[in-house]
Formats: sequence, C-alpha cells, structure tokens
Amino acid sequence: MTYEILFSPTGGTMKTANLLTKEFSSEVRVVDLMDRKADFSSIPFTPEDLCVVAVPSFGGRIPAPAAVRMAQMQGNGAKAILMAVYGNRTTGDMLLELKDILTKAGFRPVAALEAVARHSLFPQFAAGRPDSKDHRELVSFASQIKEKLAAESSEELTVPGSFPYQEYTSIPLKPKADHGCVRCGHCARHCPVGAIPLESPNQTNTQVCITCMACTAFCPQRARKISPLVLFPAALALRKSCKGRKPNKLYL
Ligand SMILES: Cc1cc2nc3c(=O)[nH]c(=O)nc-3n(C[C@H](O)[C@H](O)[C@H](O)COP(=O)(O)O)c2cc1C
Repeated sequence: MTYEILFSPTGGTMKTANLLTKEFSSEVRVVDLMDRKADFSSIPFTPEDLCVVAVPSFGGRIPAPAAVRMAQMQGNGAKAILMAVYGNRTTGDMLLELKDILTKAGFRPVAALEAVARHSLFPQFAAGRPDSKDHRELVSFASQIKEKLAAESSEELTVPGSFPYQEYTSIPLKPKADHGCVRCGHCARHCPVGAIPLESPNQTNTQVCITCMACTAFCPQRARKISPLVLFPAALALRKSCKGRKPNKLYL
C-alpha cells in the first residue's frame, strides 16, 4: 500500500506531495494529520508499505500538532519518504526532526526532499509554485528514489539539520473573522488545533491558534484574514530571505 501522510493547512503541501506520490501508485491512502480527532496509532502499517510524509516548514520546524500526531503512529518498518515543503525561505532543521520522529515511531526513512510551494502567509513568495518545472523535478526525484528502493540499500539516510533543533518562535499574527462571517462553522471544523469555537466561529482563541492559515483557506466567504496592515511590514522583513527561486532538493 502507498500512503500519503499529510499536514496541509492551505493545500500547498498536499499539491506538492501529490506530484511525487502519483509516480509511485495510482492507489493512495491519505492520512490527514490535520484531523485532531483521528486515532493515528491504529493505522496498520507493514514493512511492504511506502509512505510519503509531507509537512510544511513553520519557522524551519514541523508544525507542533503534526509532530505530536506522527509520534503516535506505529510504523512497523514501513518505508518513509520525508518531504519538507517550504515557502521559499528555509526548511531549517525539519528534515532531521522528521527523520528522528519517524524512526522512533518505527518507520524506515529511505529518501528525503525539500520542495517549494507558495508561501501560505505571504503568497507573493514562491507564487505559482509548485509549477511545471517543479513537477518535472519531482518526477525525476521519484525515479531516483525508485532506483534506490530497487537496489535495496540498507545504508542510513543522511539529512540536513542539527540537534538541538532551532527554537520555534510562535508568530504573533492571528487570522480573525470580519463582518463577512456567516458563522457557518467551516473554519472551526477544519482548524487542526480547535482554536475556533464551533458555537461562535467568528472568535479565535489566539493562545491556541498556530497561524497555520487553514481557516482562511477553508472559509467559503473569505471572511477570515490577517490584516494587511500587519502583514505588510512582516513581509518586508522577510523580503531578502525569501527572494529568488529557491530549489527543490533530494537526499538519498
Ligand atoms: C506559521 C508559518 C510559518 C512559516 N514558516 C516558514 C519558514 O520558516 N520558511 C519557509 O520557507 N516557509 C515558511 N512558511 C510557509 C509554508 O511552509 C509554505 O507556504 C507551505 O507550502 C504551506 O503549506 P500548506 O499550503 O500545505 O499550508 C510558513 C508558513 C506559516 C503559516
């Protein structure tokens, strides 16, 4: 069985992972790490399974709820392709963090990738990515991974990153509902951490919110946003580190 294990608040991680995963199988079982009610410990992984595990970079780290949920899985020797999706700045220590968590959970990391997708907070960075060039690169990465799998190498995978991992500083910007909110509750149901009360979805518990932006992506009214007045200076500060076309990379 081929699994795609995803944490994708605004869809970029999923889109990028799909380009790779479909090269391995047309039949894919998705494990949604955004689901705060799922029992991740009961998924029956076997050593024959191949899992593409894709998460976005949040300050060069794995988003905290994704890390906790991955640690609950029982890999039972399933092969894992680690995928760090980033918005044109950095993947920091997240590939090492992914490797450490998944190895401890009983998976066997066989390959790792850094792949670029549109920045979910500042969509002017990596706009339009993944694009057709990214697609071609991911297809080529998939065939290199297949060759490695066919060679049945038992060499340990080396990935970038160092321990202790860089500290994650939570982002003070939190999306809020504006007057367009019709209280449909869509955002509350999709929030991966339960920061939006279902009974009053125009509120946000800013202590719990991780600024993943899922609520802004899922709102049918486009009524959830971070004020552009707050976003603009933050984008200016990131302009230098996010400029240019950042690469996709494969580690075998
Ligand atoms: C809170 C937060 C922090 C982020 N930090 C980084 C970062 O440090 N480096 C980077 O390149 N991208 C960063 N990004 C961008 C995401 O990694 C990137 O846009 C990813 O594709 C989002 O995945 P999604 O579309 O599946 O939500 C951050 C995004 C958010 C919401």
